[in-house]
Amino acid sequence: MLRTVTATRYVLPLREGGSLPAIVEADDLGSYVVKFRGAGQGPLALVAELVAGEIGRALGLRVPELVLMDIDSALGRNEPDAEIRHLLKASVGLNLALDYLPGSTMFDIAARDTVGPEEASLAVWFDAFTQNVDRTPRNANLLMWHRKLYLIDHGAALYFHHNWETMPEKAESPFTEIGKHVLLPWASQIKETGALAQQKLSRSLFAEILAQVPDEWLDPDAGGAAAKKRETYVNFFTNRLSAAGIFEQEAIDAHARLV
Ligand SMILES: Nc1ncnc2c1ncn2[C@@H]1O[C@H](COP(=O)(O)OP(=O)(O)OP(=O)(O)O)[C@@H](O)[C@H]1O
Ligand SMILES: [Mg+2]
Repeated sequence: MLRTVTATRYVLPLREGGSLPAIVEADDLGSYVVKFRGAGQGPLALVAELVAGEIGRALGLRVPELVLMDIDSALGRNEPDAEIRHLLKASVGLNLALDYLPGSTMFDIAARDTVGPEEASLAVWFDAFTQNVDRTPRNANLLMWHRKLYLIDHGAALYFHHNWETMPEKAESPFTEIGKHVLLPWASQIKETGALAQQKLSRSLFAEILAQVPDEWLDPDAGGAAAKKRETYVNFFTNRLSAAGIFEQEAIDAHARLV
């Protein structure tokens, strides 16, 4: 179960992030990186962040702890920057936050960061499964912290959820974008890791994860569509898992083309 914390202090915007995420302190004295519901990407980015992040964790990948963060209208009332003030105002209610990893650095091949074949293969499998395009050398969205790899920024994953009509057919897509994955050069065990990954995922796990997504992210107009949407996601992931051979083969071929 995700914990829920309450924001107590807006500390610092992370200007490099496109959605203007920020470091925020909470009532449990923790520091978090917050993805705001009111940001331009919209609430589906928070759904993707939560759902993909928890699938990654279930697979055994390192993802900073995710929590729901309650923001009330007092936060940021005295914020001098108008853009930040508006963002906080539009985000009153539940937002998504990740445990802040102080001193972490972005995974960088030029800095000779490397990763083992099992972990790289699992990360590639995970990003193909969740259709995450945001893991390129230019924007790796991988942090090194105490010499271990952490996966962040899954807001652009699950891109199928921006178009419900074409969603069923996309469950079986090969995901050709995997060719640009920053860890693909190390991913020499996709078949073996994929077999293990498939054992860790199931319809009931997907349902457990979707149950934690706040209604208002799935259904901002409160039209009563949240339960139906959860079921559609669960069906999608269950179908994609059965068709995993398709995207696995695509990733294996893409890896073979590199070496
Ligand atoms: N948990 C964390 N601990 C430490 N730093 C973090 C954490 N999460 C994010 N950051 C830093 O903040 C930056 C922006 O975060 P993130 O990539 O999630 O935001 P974004 O708005 O989706 O970014 P973009 O779209 O530009 O990739 C990251 O590149 C990283 O440097
Ligand atoms: Mg990012």
